[in-house]
Amino acid sequence: MFSTRGVGILGTGSYLPEEIITNKNLEKIIDTSDEWIRSRTGIKERRKVASGETTSDLCFYAAKHAMTAAEISPEELDLIIVATVTPDMIFPATACLLQDRLGAKKAAAFDLSAACTGFIYGLAVGSQFISTGMYDKVLVVGADALSTVVNPEDRNTSILFGDGAGACVLGPVETGQGILSLYLGSDGGGGDLLYVPAGGSRKPATKETLAQKEHYIRMSGNEVFKFAVRIMDDASMKVLDQAGLSKDDIDFLVPHQANIRIVEAAVKRLELPKDQVYINLDKYGNMSGASIPVALDEAVRAGRFNKGDVVLLVGFGAGLTWGSTLLRW
Ligand code: UT7
Repeated sequence: MFSTRGVGILGTGSYLPEEIITNKNLEKIIDTSDEWIRSRTGIKERRKVASGETTSDLCFYAAKHAMTAAEISPEELDLIIVATVTPDMIFPATACLLQDRLGAKKAAAFDLSAACTGFIYGLAVGSQFISTGMYDKVLVVGADALSTVVNPEDRNTSILFGDGAGACVLGPVETGQGILSLYLGSDGGGGDLLYVPAGGSRKPATKETLAQKEHYIRMSGNEVFKFAVRIMDDASMKVLDQAGLSKDDIDFLVPHQANIRIVEAAVKRLELPKDQVYINLDKYGNMSGASIPVALDEAVRAGRFNKGDVVLLVGFGAGLTWGSTLLRW
């Protein structure tokens, strides 16, 4: 049962909620400007879930698109992993809600919490089951509705985040194709740089936590920024080293879409031309776990990858967490 075999992405999909929040819209709520947001982050607009629209709704449509692209039915799925920090409920897992709605009758399902690195963690975890031969088809979804945990009056965070979902179906491929190498990291010592103080077992929700707005994201933007620039470089080099490749071998980069200045720093270190990098943060902001899979899906659908291309996915996020995946497309 436990052999080692190649694992690749058989199909991708994504879904964005309809409502668009522009920088101009935000100017009416907080003390900010379109010019400041564009120049400091690169973001022009972001999406927001409708009232009653949930993370599992976003997952459902992204998953459907990915399964159509992979040409598989829900009954064929062995496992569903949803990477999210904004689950529909604390429990049951959003992955279980998705399993039921998809009708993925034989699939196991669980959520994974690694914030913006969630999809990279999901790829790493999901691929192990296929590599060992235990499972054949694994659905990995990165989805977040961060607008539900962002304080609309906090200009430090409300300008940055958006909602969305991206998905892929993993399956066995020839050795040497698909995932070439994986790298994951964490540093819980930096957990207080980006977190939601209340609503968990440490500080259950009360009138007081609501009054203090402790159910909203707290972020030390500058500290996260410095960490991000350092770790994007480190994680990129680690995964290349593991595959016995160098930065000259990269054909395409799909980075976590947090801030254009963070992406530009990574691109500079990797000495990549701009047309070999996929950027959509101008349209969607930072969608946390959805950021990389939505960008990946858009790049695939835009025909940006050629067969055999070496594609690097790299991200970082709350935890702190970080990680990278190197793929042969
Ligand atoms: O997935 C991980 C998620 N998080 C991140 O990736 C966040 C990474 N960090 C960042 O992207 C940046 O640190 C921010 C975009 C959050 C902030 O940009 P910055 O260039 O680091 O700005 P700053 O915090 O150093 O603030 C510069 C100035 C300050 O004014 P003073 O003190 O110089 O007068 C801020 O008060 O800009 C002010 N400022 C704003 N002005 C207009 C901060 N936020 C805003 C705003 N609009 N939204």
